[in-house]
Amino acid sequence: MSKPASNHSDPKVLISAEKLDERIAELANEIQNDYAGREIVAICVLKGSFIFFSDILRKIDLPTSCEFLGVSSYGDKKVSSGEVKVTLDINEPLENKHVILFEDIVDSGLTLSYLIANLRARRPASLRTCSLLMKPDSMRVDIPVDYVGFKIGPEFVVGYGLDYAGKFRGLPFIGFLEAEH
Ligand code: PRP
Repeated sequence: MSKPASNHSDPKVLISAEKLDERIAELANEIQNDYAGREIVAICVLKGSFIFFSDILRKIDLPTSCEFLGVSSYGDKKVSSGEVKVTLDINEPLENKHVILFEDIVDSGLTLSYLIANLRARRPASLRTCSLLMKPDSMRVDIPVDYVGFKIGPEFVVGYGLDYAGKFRGLPFIGFLEAEH
């Protein structure tokens, strides 16, 4: 994921807390309708997805078990290498389960591409992906993102779980960082 210049101002609002809440309710409804009568395994990809995950889960009225998957990328973080190391794995078997993977953002798509292959190998009954944010113009692989909250441009975004150098995860909105001139 590309980073902004080190000189930047405070984040400006890109997507307000109200818009997030409204769109997440729509996504939750869609998922609830698609999976009616089924039990799901919801997987949160740490760290960035933790706030989105907790908010959407509270809006999905289905029998759900929650799992947490920790991943970290190798190498130069300014350019996604696609090499992903699992730092926290799921202990429960996923075989024959209906699995939904929740991400905060799909940028190059390399992380999600790795995770889809990793989870498919565990033979779930079905596997779908849900991402709050997606950057269609930055995608480097062709992968399915079944539920998308917002398609955004190339701007570097923070807040609502997303960080820049470890900061801003606690902001209640999605913000963007402008380089200072
Ligand atoms: C972010 C995000 C995705 C990934 C998307 O994670 O949570 O997992 O990058 O980028 P990609 O589509 O280019 O692969 P990050 O590496 O920032 O870690 P974090 O969630 O722990 O902050």
